[in-house]
Amino acid sequence: MNSQNPSGYDMIFKVVLIGDTSVGKTNILSKYLTNDFDPDSKATVGVEFGTKNFKIEDNIVKVQIWDTAGQERYRSITNAYYKGAKGSLLVYDITNPKTFESIDRWLSDLKVNGDENISVVLLGNKSDLESDRKVTTQQGKEKAEFYKLAFMETSALNGDNIERAFNELITDVYKNHHDLFEKQAKVVINDKAINLENADENDEKMEKEKKGCCG
Ligand code: GTP
Ligand code: MG
Repeated sequence: MNSQNPSGYDMIFKVVLIGDTSVGKTNILSKYLTNDFDPDSKATVGVEFGTKNFKIEDNIVKVQIWDTAGQERYRSITNAYYKGAKGSLLVYDITNPKTFESIDRWLSDLKVNGDENISVVLLGNKSDLESDRKVTTQQGKEKAEFYKLAFMETSALNGDNIERAFNELITDVYKNHHDLFEKQAKVVINDKAINLENADENDEKMEKEKKGCCG
């Protein structure tokens, strides 16, 4: 490890999971972090987050992954969480064309509320439900090409491409930002400049704020 700070990592950044309700965002995150899949998961209220450390080149990168609520009524809350995000997994459900049609709107929300050069990976989730498929792989590819996004189909149920999706996003964010991180050794998350030394403390603080905010 390169790190000279006691927190055990060299850089920290935030990514957000967005997309319509029920597309599988929460299960994608739980599959990724703990290998759990919940067939009866409840709709997310407000926002939740998890963290994971990565080793890229010689650096330990701590990634905070924010899982937002897709329900329309939380839209104004979740818009606030794009700020400071360096990457986003934008998810639709291959069995539900409405969620695919929403992609344009999610991207325009990101443009208005997020960082200008945010990395985005488009995910067509529930690829295990092939017999219920309503959005073809080709349609997904074309949408991604149109917006110049990376694209893959995933399954939170069987884990297909889940790890790959996060790796792709995080590698892209790292490529776009590591010069900046090395220079500043801090990153603005949720409107606050966080020193690496204090980042764990800040995780706890954000956890508390989040509960207060949206519970
Ligand atoms: P909101 O929190 O309301 O925005 O929804 P969400 O996008 O977080 O969806 P969630 O992860 O809660 O999943 C919704 C439903 O789809 C649940 O019943 C999940 O079990 C199911 N689901 C999620 N991912 C998959 C998948 O890859 N395959 C299958 N078959 N079902 C999935
Ligand atoms: Mg959810």
